[in-house]
Amino acid sequence: MAAPPDALLQRFPDHTWSSVTDGLSGALVWRLHGPSELFVKVAGASPHLDSGFDVRAEVERTRWLAGRGIPVPEVVDAGTTGAEHWLITTAVAGLPAAHAWSAEQVPAVVDALADLTRTLHALPVEACPFDRSLSVTASAARHAARAGLLDLDDLDDERAGWTAEELLAELEATRPDDEDLVVCHGDLTFDNVLLDPATATVTGLIDLGRLGRADRCADLALLTGELAGTNWPGAVERFLHRYGGPAPDPARLAFYRLLDEFF
Ligand SMILES: Nc1ncnc2c1ncn2[C@@H]1O[C@H](COP(=O)(O)OP(=O)(O)O)[C@@H](O)[C@H]1O
Ligand SMILES: [Mg+2]
Repeated sequence: MAAPPDALLQRFPDHTWSSVTDGLSGALVWRLHGPSELFVKVAGASPHLDSGFDVRAEVERTRWLAGRGIPVPEVVDAGTTGAEHWLITTAVAGLPAAHAWSAEQVPAVVDALADLTRTLHALPVEACPFDRSLSVTASAARHAARAGLLDLDDLDDERAGWTAEELLAELEATRPDDEDLVVCHGDLTFDNVLLDPATATVTGLIDLGRLGRADRCADLALLTGELAGTNWPGAVERFLHRYGGPAPDPARLAFYRLLDEFF
């Protein structure tokens, strides 16, 4: 396990540092307890083109989303130490959506996820400076496949054993002709949404490095995929009903789940 940069350790000598991630996404995350409750995220240069691997992208997106009606951690500070970029945020209280909620809590959690997603997607898309349309993300996916950066041992079951070339061919064959662009989180998984365990209201949306203008199905694909993997009765249908609008096209959802395999 890598150690935090000395410059950051020296800055918070009275905090207890505990490691949170193993750097699977390329970033290392620590939780700091003590005089304040903070999170520190550090990552060096990544061979990926995707913004989700760049801590600087997360810094600017977190700052942008703050004050727009969606709770996000406050950026306490950010900067560069040698070859590494770092982000310090306040800790968001609450439990991840992935928590083992009681049967009584589940409907409120699903509703809170739908309300959060609808509110995010209703932000004025033209005001969002981050382009995550397919011209950007499919190019980054192609680069990741050709550069040998895919984690082929961690594919969805339906694609287990596929090669990078097979994934890329499927991506190109199923790419939608148009995009219904909204402000998307871009990595809207259960771990990245925190909720108050008492009220099941969202306390924070975190891990914002992939936020930007993308087809709404980019978010809906990941979140409905997560909901489908629970034993929460009727969760996908409840979520989509509360999110509102026409039912998303299953082929488009499948495409965005495939796209996620590249990152
Ligand atoms: N500001 C924060 N408040 C609360 N928990 C956080 C915060 N930042 C990170 N975490 C915790 O650390 C985990 C990893 O951080 P995250 O930014 O999601 O990194 P990764 O890119 O590795 O998914 C999160 O799933 C969450 O449990
Ligand atoms: Mg995360």
